[in-house]
Amino acid sequence: MTTITCIDDLQRLARRRVPKMFYDYADSGSWTESTYRANHSDFDTIKFRQRVMVDMAGRSVKCEMLGQPCSMPVALAPVGLTGMQHADGEIHAARAAEKFGVPFTLSTMSICSIEDVAEHTNSPFWFQLYVMRDRDYVGRLIDRARAAGCSALVLTADLQILGQRHKDIINGMTVPPRPTVRNLINLATKWRWVLGMLRTQRRTFGNIAGHVKDASNLSSLSAWTASQFDPSLSWDDVRWIKERWGGKLIIKGILDPEDAEAAVNAGADGIIVSNHGGRQLDGAPSSIRALPAIVSAVGERTEVYLDGGIRSGQDILKAVALGAKSVFIGRAFIYGLGAMGEKGVTIALNTLYKELDTTLALCGLRDIQDVDTKILWQDSQLMHP
Ligand code: GLV
Repeated sequence: MTTITCIDDLQRLARRRVPKMFYDYADSGSWTESTYRANHSDFDTIKFRQRVMVDMAGRSVKCEMLGQPCSMPVALAPVGLTGMQHADGEIHAARAAEKFGVPFTLSTMSICSIEDVAEHTNSPFWFQLYVMRDRDYVGRLIDRARAAGCSALVLTADLQILGQRHKDIINGMTVPPRPTVRNLINLATKWRWVLGMLRTQRRTFGNIAGHVKDASNLSSLSAWTASQFDPSLSWDDVRWIKERWGGKLIIKGILDPEDAEAAVNAGADGIIVSNHGGRQLDGAPSSIRALPAIVSAVGERTEVYLDGGIRSGQDILKAVALGAKSVFIGRAFIYGLGAMGEKGVTIALNTLYKELDTTLALCGLRDIQDVDTKILWQDSQLMHP
């Protein structure tokens, strides 16, 4: 029996239970991984002011995202191949999020399809869109998300070409997939994972298989997908997407105030300050460093969220203090999922909730709505002898 005290414990367990090629896929950054590391380590450079002798009873970390009530300022980020971390992974994660009262975002590159997740949940989830060259397919994908009752569309802006992740090459997570013999042997040792996969039919890209011609098996699907990401995506496409969708639109992958302005002008209802978990432009700043300038540029006109590096409730509170309306977690829930399926995602959410609630109290506040930069330690407060 492993005792789970924090997200790092879930990570250790996931590393033991998930086949190496899929664990590494989720856990890696691009090239030197400097941005991937900075996403988390930059949180450590931010310090709180500890306050005492204040009434800490009756606390609340409730908030709203796009008018939707959330039990804390957290949403589950879209993560490709979630259903390879654990059999039926997207359904497990969506159910955990639903029960906890936070939004779940389904990736275009998910294993369980939009319709499948809708069938296995009761509340609306959000759908993340990759724009492919085949605009007809993109249009149909948008229509399918609407028909399934999705309540927001999350358009990813920063992955029209792929940053290189060395581990994926070494592990054979290429297109088409070429797993190494060593990885196949490793896979066979993960008996929980193998049993789950044997019991499910969901083992390919559910949103694509059967919806495009010439993509019938895993390798032709992978090849189709790789050839389909459209490097010409522009703000004009965003206007078209917004019109076709007709609902709330979030743009994900904004790291620069000028792009934030453009996103708002193109009609974004929310933006996610994100460097794709350090998986794209290596050498870009961490999300938390990029956040304040973006909040000051567009924070009055749109909801600004952040993803990248969140591993604790303390990190969530720091992001909120610097102006994020809410954060998205990717790896933090993926570790829980890989470790224990739905239960592990619930543990991840509970862990973050308790850390957030207690940290709020120790900063001397009772309501997350009152949080601003005043809870953060300023270097000017350092005592000089
Ligand atoms: C896709 O979102 C990836 O980062 O691989």
